[in-house]
Amino acid sequence: MSTNHATRSASAPGKVILFGEHAVVYGQPAIAVPVTQVKANATVTPAPPGSGLTIVASDLGTDFRLDAPPDEPLTAAARLALSHCSAPEPDATLTLRSTIPIASGLGSGTAVSTALIRALAEFLGCPMETAELSALVFEIEKIHHGTPSGIDNTVVAYAQPVYFRRGQPVERLAVGAPFTLLIGDTGIRSSTREAVEQVRESRRRDPAHYDALFDQIGDVANQARRAIEAGRVDALGPLMDENHDLLIELGVSSPELDELVESARFGGAMGSKLSGAGRGGNMVALVEEDCVEEVAEELREAGASRVIVSTILQRTLQRIRNKTD
Ligand code: MEV
Repeated sequence: MSTNHATRSASAPGKVILFGEHAVVYGQPAIAVPVTQVKANATVTPAPPGSGLTIVASDLGTDFRLDAPPDEPLTAAARLALSHCSAPEPDATLTLRSTIPIASGLGSGTAVSTALIRALAEFLGCPMETAELSALVFEIEKIHHGTPSGIDNTVVAYAQPVYFRRGQPVERLAVGAPFTLLIGDTGIRSSTREAVEQVRESRRRDPAHYDALFDQIGDVANQARRAIEAGRVDALGPLMDENHDLLIELGVSSPELDELVESARFGGAMGSKLSGAGRGGNMVALVEEDCVEEVAEELREAGASRVIVSTILQRTLQRIRNKTD
């Protein structure tokens, strides 16, 4: 048994995008918050000498070795962590578990990469700053999604509400008053890569129209930021509704998402929208505390396969350094 390494574990939360998905790929601002009710966990334990590294993806029922193809994201993440730490392949077993539904807009792949890299780096005695971790996870996001904006790795690695704009320093979002979200799953898996590709193709055919939509979404995200910081929770609902309408115009909603979005509003939500890449996956609704059960019930009746309640707590503003630019 290797004696110089001790077992290490790390976890990372899921996320929802509150404002600005898709437009953020084109340089507009977006707002995302961590969802700590679901998470990915990675545990690295020492293995007998000469056994090398085995990655056990418990939920997939599959094991990986480091010689997997270069586009296999789990081994790519492990190789990246080793190279960042200038460490040889350790004799270890890295076990992954996640409660985040796959391909649902809640950042499951991002959280798994984040937990994996953090746990492996700590096992190797090479702790990383959050900005470094986020930058490494961004590299894996490219394997998953092709042309990610960087918002997912940022919100998951920092595990804080963020106001994100591509190429700009990341800002932790000041939350002026707490607010409660309901996150409803259509149960339909959706590929972020394909949704982003679809939007790119639409924009290629009509750049002026799509750039105007992106500008409007960016404007909504900036208004939402001011409302969140000022604690004007009332103003957020209509902005979510407006953002959803713009996402419909972008062509990334679906009948199932629209159904959940409508039923949340019918049940008393202050506002609601799809969240993430769209075409399936999750939607998010803003609810007053005393409406949570009623809206959750509406969502379930309208077909939600899972409903998560998440309260975003009040925080003060603090700038965070970003090395992903
Ligand atoms: C996916 O969570 C959010 C998108 O805007 C893609 C991205 O920002 O990379 C759809």
